[in-house]
Amino acid sequence: MSMNFSVQSNIRNYDVLIESDPDFIEQLAQSPQACFVVDENVWNLYSSTLLKDLPTSDVIVLPINEDRKSLETVQELYDQFVTLSAKRNLKLISFGGGILQDITGFAASTIYRGIHWIYIPTTLLAQADSCIGSKTSLNYHGYKNLIGTFFPPAQIYIYPPFLKTQSDPDFYSGLGEVIKLHLMGGELNFRDLIQHIPSIMSRDPDALLQAIRVSLDVKLSYMDGDEFDIGRRNLLNYGHDFGHALESTSNFAVPHGQAVVFGMLAANFVARNRGLLNEMLATEIARNLILPSLKVLPPVHSIEPEVIIDAMKKDKKRTGDLLALIMMQNNFDFIRINDLTPVEVASALTESKAMLNL
Ligand SMILES: NC(=O)c1ccc[n+]([C@@H]2O[C@H](COP(=O)([O-])OP(=O)(O)OC[C@H]3O[C@@H](n4cnc5c(N)ncnc54)[C@H](O)[C@@H]3O)[C@@H](O)[C@H]2O)c1
Ligand SMILES: [Zn+2]
Repeated sequence: MSMNFSVQSNIRNYDVLIESDPDFIEQLAQSPQACFVVDENVWNLYSSTLLKDLPTSDVIVLPINEDRKSLETVQELYDQFVTLSAKRNLKLISFGGGILQDITGFAASTIYRGIHWIYIPTTLLAQADSCIGSKTSLNYHGYKNLIGTFFPPAQIYIYPPFLKTQSDPDFYSGLGEVIKLHLMGGELNFRDLIQHIPSIMSRDPDALLQAIRVSLDVKLSYMDGDEFDIGRRNLLNYGHDFGHALESTSNFAVPHGQAVVFGMLAANFVARNRGLLNEMLATEIARNLILPSLKVLPPVHSIEPEVIIDAMKKDKKRTGDLLALIMMQNNFDFIRINDLTPVEVASALTESKAMLNL
């Protein structure tokens, strides 16, 4: 499989460049009229090594946490961009995880009605999943990702050695999405992942590179023809129905991708109980992928059926009155149902709890 690829987008086609050598950073550092926005933790870790060539007078270091995904932060950036270059041909080059991506992507898409933006993802979630797909998002009045645009970077550079310094909870959060995408990529990808999961978990760069490449490929296949997320792309929310609910019932103590792993486990129980997923496959997924990668267990009170159902009812993506759920089936096909019952939720949660010895 060739490593670099282009994404066809309704907005503008863009390139994903997979790098095994950090030289590309030195070249980016010489870009004329560039402004560099770097996640503060990434800057502290790499300013004297990988990022040493960036011209410090053009570097904006951004402290990062979920609360920073706000219009206020974007405004701070606008102010700095205007000071640096009052021209449309300003080039924005950003380094960081999904939060930095969302903030800088939104800023890049709105200032001067869109400027040239290059993104270098530095977390597993961002490298294997969020960097493609064109979405930029901000939180608003406590609602996650309520504001946003569709705006892809012009280029994305993926360099897996950045992942060595990621904290375990953040790395395992990203791993949740990697598992999801491999399941969605069909049986061969699923079997391949089982084989490589130990080296991925020990952050072997080659294993990571391969897993990232496959993940992006699968994500692309689901976005094909549905960039704006009105149909098939929505299936990428597999694991997210229960997952989003768990994030909120645990008060975000369970990181996003870890909540998705739990969500896949629970969704698979519903699918098995409906006769859509056979026992053997469900068990194989649970034993080989879900249990080894679930490092943050949900607090018991956060998976009580009533609280989960309540949270699922509040999901902003819900369209009707009934509960929706995306499920995996025997042939690795995914479907969305809109008639999930509270009884089904309760038994899936009881079985998930038992499997996790909670
Ligand atoms: N736009 C999209 O399509 C999309 C898709 C999925 C998720 N997201 C968003 O992404 C965010 C989560 O992103 P994330 O999981 O990448 O984490 P993150 O951006 O929250 O980063 C996690 C932590 O890791 C630090 N960090 C980043 N790179 C590092 C490195 N190489 N070494 C050490 N520390 C590093 C950050 O400073 C931060 O403290 C959420 O806000 C979510 O809504 C966006
Ligand atoms: Zn997700």
